[in-house]
Amino acid sequence: MSKGKLAKFADMETYENVFQYPYSVVSDVPFAMRGHWREQYFKNNNPIVLELGCGKGEYTVGLAKRYPQINFIGVDIKGARMWTGATQATQEGLKNVAFLRTNIEIIDRFFAPDEVQEIWLTFSDPQMKNPRKRLSSTYFLERYRRFLTDNGIIHLKTDSNFLATYTNYMVDHNHLPVDLRTDDLYKQENQAFAEAASIQTYYESMWLARGLNIKYLKFHLPHEGALEEPNVEIELDDYRSYHRSKRSSLETAK
Ligand SMILES: C[S@@+](CC[C@H](N)C(=O)[O-])C[C@H]1O[C@@H](n2cnc3c(N)ncnc32)[C@H](O)[C@@H]1O
Repeated sequence: MSKGKLAKFADMETYENVFQYPYSVVSDVPFAMRGHWREQYFKNNNPIVLELGCGKGEYTVGLAKRYPQINFIGVDIKGARMWTGATQATQEGLKNVAFLRTNIEIIDRFFAPDEVQEIWLTFSDPQMKNPRKRLSSTYFLERYRRFLTDNGIIHLKTDSNFLATYTNYMVDHNHLPVDLRTDDLYKQENQAFAEAASIQTYYESMWLARGLNIKYLKFHLPHEGALEEPNVEIELDDYRSYHRSKRSSLETAK
């Protein structure tokens, strides 16, 4: 039988791999491990990769198992979802995994300059009505720059044509270097896409079951250069606004 939310929250309080600092808690308190994740938590000098909006943390745990020489941190505000990844990492004794429960709006309070090498954005909410809330907006890219190494890597994996188009415009408008991009990840035969195709998240499997293409973009974020929002009209994803019943079944899947 699956656990209820309260039991999951109680577990999370006991997990050594979980750090819970939602906005209300951390607003006036400096985060002591900022700049010290490697020596104080991971006890190594390996690179750090974040999964932002990690939900159940499939990338965080999946990549951590594949790459023991890299440290992975899943970030999300929803504790009951994060519990799945945190529990798996605890049970499997994965020492290169942590989870941070917080609002991504304040992500730069937790990491010092150059502390992180890569970011994965996995099936982020497209936020079609609110550009500032998109995890690939200039608002967030400016924050990522504060702790990502120069030319650090950002991966975007999404079902949303809207978010993929917006992010492609963002990258092109600001001349951000692109390593890989595709509108249909699972039709790619090039081995360079294999890592992105190798792990399917909870939301991804639901969108795939509905026959949607998965889009993937891998680009670099230099420290220098002003970032501007692309001034473009993008067609909305109709399946998100017109099929309320389908959407609500996603929304209740905490
Ligand atoms: C559509 S779900 C995708 C979850 C997971 N990556 C997957 O593919 O199954 C988006 C996740 O991002 C989280 N999220 C969105 N905006 C956030 C924010 N500003 N701060 C923290 N978490 C956020 C939500 O709580 C949710 O778990």
